[in-house]
Amino acid sequence: MVRRDNLPVQLSTFVGREQELAEVHALVRRHRLSTLTGAGGCGKTRLALRAAVDLLDAGAYADGAWLVDLAPIADAALIARAALSALGAREVPGRAPLETLVDYLQARTLLLIVDNCEHLVAGCAALVEALLRACPGLQVMATSREPLGLPGEAGWRVPSLALPPPGAASADIVRSEAVCLFAERARLVQPDFALTLANAVTVGQLCRRLDGIPLALELAAARVRGLTVEQLAARLDDRFRLLTGGARTALRRQQTLRATVDWSYDLLAADERALLRRLSVFAGGWTLDAAEAVGAGLPDALGLLLQLVDKSLVVPEPNGEDPASIAPVNGGDGFRYRLLETIRQYASIRHICPKTSV
Ligand SMILES: Nc1ncnc2c1ncn2[C@@H]1O[C@H](COP(=O)(O)OP(=O)(O)OP(=O)(O)O)[C@@H](O)[C@H]1O
Ligand SMILES: [Mg+2]
Repeated sequence: MVRRDNLPVQLSTFVGREQELAEVHALVRRHRLSTLTGAGGCGKTRLALRAAVDLLDAGAYADGAWLVDLAPIADAALIARAALSALGAREVPGRAPLETLVDYLQARTLLLIVDNCEHLVAGCAALVEALLRACPGLQVMATSREPLGLPGEAGWRVPSLALPPPGAASADIVRSEAVCLFAERARLVQPDFALTLANAVTVGQLCRRLDGIPLALELAAARVRGLTVEQLAARLDDRFRLLTGGARTALRRQQTLRATVDWSYDLLAADERALLRRLSVFAGGWTLDAAEAVGAGLPDALGLLLQLVDKSLVVPEPNGEDPASIAPVNGGDGFRYRLLETIRQYASIRHICPKTSV
């Protein structure tokens, strides 16, 4: 049988995301380019791969689903070549890789998953646009901390894993997605680990303080080998030193919490970094006016703030609604903004001493 995909077999269990998967399926069916965006480690790649498997199983693409992972590629000039290699298509001597790619895709019906684009966003955008214009049966699902910025692109922000509501009873805490992922991964390193009435509240708080970000939850769960959840929770103010033990074969930027934030921070322009550092003074989120005040002296603080939103470093909360709280935080009369706690801690250390590594 001819292989119709190159999607990697996953080694760890998949947790939750029923609603998100339904939304991504609908999105991909409706648009030729869908881009899953979100903070580092929030689960973009995992969700995209899971959605692709489902779509493939549903028979959506006669010529299959193919993953082009750009994480290991540093040069935009190599993207077309990486795509050819992912598809198992041969380069033709004397012909540009992009032309060969167009020849290969022109008469096919397939889904291309262009994964981890943020460091090559301009090159990706150019390639994806050229392919979509020339190849009518092609659909693209991209993942990136920042959208590609193409006409017709359907952006979709991957949320954190669902957290237990504040003050939830233990029975509800243990059912939440974030807590389930933490417990699943903790059991891998400590088979006796169990969620109990005694530790559920602490685990729930831990997951909340890690913003429900799957990568952070996995790094924290790996520490259960040598620390109790209470000890872990007590050390989360020092999370960048604590959360360093990623899988040996993981991407370098996913081996520590610091590396995953460094990856986003290093891709920012100097003024964007300056505003991010200043925004770390707001522990409970802020309004547009407050951002403009704190950004005084920077050229175009509003534009910079919106860039940070695009790059998934600032979370916008429409109508002032904090998804983690029951009541609107400012009466619902405009966007509020906030930083994930991990980003805030990182930016505040950089704020105190911009040159220090965290
Ligand atoms: N729903 C889930 N169930 C189980 N594990 C998950 C889930 N979502 C993410 N993970 C795990 O969390 C880690 C980070 O996920 P992933 O690589 O998809 O994040 P990402 O948003 O693509 O990160 P990056 O911004 O670095 O590209 C991975 O180890 C992944 O397997
Ligand atoms: Mg990814």
